[in-house]
Amino acid sequence: MYADRVLSGMRPTGSLHLGHYHGVLKNWLKLQHEYECLFFVADWHALTTHYDNPLALEEHTWQMVIDWLAAGVDPKRATLFIQSQVIEHAELHLLLSMMTPLGWLERVPTYKDQQEKLSDKDLSTYGFLGYPLLQSADILIYRANQVPVGEDQVPHIEFSREIARRFNHLYGKEPGYEEKAEAAVKKLGGKKAKLYSELRNRYQEQGDEEALESARAILAEAQNLSLGDKERLYGHLEGGGKMILTEPEALLTEASKMPGLDGQKMSKSYNNTIALREDPETVSKKIRTMPTDPARVRRTDAGDPGKCPVWQFHQVYSNDAVRAWVTQGCTSAGIGCIECKQPVIEAVLRELAPIQERARAYTEEPDLVRNIIADGCEKARDLARETMRDVREAMGLNYG
Ligand code: TRP
Ligand code: SF4
Repeated sequence: MYADRVLSGMRPTGSLHLGHYHGVLKNWLKLQHEYECLFFVADWHALTTHYDNPLALEEHTWQMVIDWLAAGVDPKRATLFIQSQVIEHAELHLLLSMMTPLGWLERVPTYKDQQEKLSDKDLSTYGFLGYPLLQSADILIYRANQVPVGEDQVPHIEFSREIARRFNHLYGKEPGYEEKAEAAVKKLGGKKAKLYSELRNRYQEQGDEEALESARAILAEAQNLSLGDKERLYGHLEGGGKMILTEPEALLTEASKMPGLDGQKMSKSYNNTIALREDPETVSKKIRTMPTDPARVRRTDAGDPGKCPVWQFHQVYSNDAVRAWVTQGCTSAGIGCIECKQPVIEAVLRELAPIQERARAYTEEPDLVRNIIADGCEKARDLARETMRDVREAMGLNYG
């Protein structure tokens, strides 16, 4: 069996583009060979910001899943599902909300950032504030320990770790646990006991990892403790007796080098994308009409690749020889821009051809996609239910 479980979610944005492919999907393709993977459509997350326009959700969800499959996400290797079809996420979210300090949510950096960025929307909602907690529930319900995310999402994983730790601390204790642990601390002896308690506080209150390490070192060296007491103090240190929820780690995804047609980040809102299922004619035309170094007005003007978005495409798609040809030809006005774009057009079309071929099978037979998702949701539900049994029991909600 796998040691690690990977979980990642994507908001349903409809058809995906090359930015998604190079940024996220290629990473998923690699991960599905290395880990047990769960990938899901975060449709409830979309509602936290787009609650006023839910009608497009279903269409966007199916289009996105088709693109995952077309890109090569393999349902035999990864479990694919839709968040809202595994309602256990909502139950865990609710139960976790009981023990989540408001201040923790208000301090998540994306909260204020996004509110300011999306200032045309009223995001002073309960759902939007709670969105990192919903994400925590997504992760913790599968006891996923590796979560591939971009830089901007790292604080959310950190937040999930704190939630798991707090949950285990509050609900993971055996009867009499506190007293037994206190007695074991005393057995460490005056000075060491005091130091252990101080370090433990520093770790639990401030998340100070160094304090955790130092306290563990004290325990490792302690000669006069029984094995049982030692175990108890290791648990006590991290805030619980029993680990009910697993603390996840962020598996940082490298930022994609794939730029948009205008050289900015590729994004639907900038209208600078190449969609994975865009037809070859349109793709060629979009690249042919891409802006180039503005200083190259005439064919005879020399250019500077550093000021040209086409050059960024060459960084993604061309080998050293082609890049040398571009640099030489551009700076000496030896080649024209149309000529320069030709290898990019060919490379992009070469990349898209097998994706579009695979997509055809799924668009022609939508039931294929529905069945894959139905299977995935069932598998996900089984895993989620297992965790929820433990969570309910720990919180005193197991009414026979
Ligand atoms: N919040 C992520 C985003 O907006 C999507 C997401 C939701 C997610 N739940 C998740 C990612 C759990 C990783 C793990 O992009
Ligand atoms: Fe850009 Fe190529 Fe034209 Fe130079 S020759 S400006 S790199 S498109």
